Amino acid sequence: MGYEFLSTVNAALNLTCLAFLLNGYRHIKAGRRDEHKRSMLLAFGTSGLFLISYLIYHAKVGSVPFQGVGWIRPVYFVILISHIILAAIIVPMAVVTVLRGWKGKFELHKKLARWTFPVWVYVSVTGVVVYLMLYHLV
Ligand code: HEM
Repeated sequence: MGYEFLSTVNAALNLTCLAFLLNGYRHIKAGRRDEHKRSMLLAFGTSGLFLISYLIYHAKVGSVPFQGVGWIRPVYFVILISHIILAAIIVPMAVVTVLRGWKGKFELHKKLARWTFPVWVYVSVTGVVVYLMLYHLV
C-alpha cells in the first residue's frame, strides 16, 4: 500500500488546525469563552491527528529530498529547520496552555497563550508551505 497520500492529509490537517486557531483567537477577542475553548480544543485534536499521521508517514515513506536548485534551496531549509525546531517546542507549550485554560487558571493561561498562539500559527503555516514547496512548486 502506498502511504504517499498521507503527505496531503498532513498538509490538510495543518491547514484545518490553522483555521481552528484563528477562529479560537477571534472568539476570545470577542469575549466568547465557550466558543474559544471549543475551537482551541479542536485545534489541539487536529494537531494530535497530524502527529499520528506524520509519524506513520515518516515510518513508511522516510524523508523526501528537496529537488529545488539555486536560491530557493536556502529559503526552503530556513523554513524547514525553523518549522522543525518550533514544532518540537509547541507540543509542551500547547499541552500546558490547554491545561491552564481547562483548570481555569486564566491569568497564567493568558501569559503563556500570548506565545503559544503565534508560534502555533507559524508552525501550521510553515507546515503547509514546506508541503507545497516539496511536492508542488519544484
Ligand atoms: C492551546 C490552546 C489555546 C490557545 C492557543 C489559547 C489562546 C488564548 C489567547 C491568545 C488568549 C487571549 C490572551 C490575550 O488577551 O492576550 C486566550 C484567553 C483565554 N483563554 Fe485560551 N487558548 C487555548 C485554550 C483554552 C482553553 C482549553 C480554555 C478553556 C477554558 C481557554 C480559555 C481562555 C479564557 C477564559 C481566556 C480569557 C482570559 C482572560 O481574558 O482573562 N483557552 N487564550
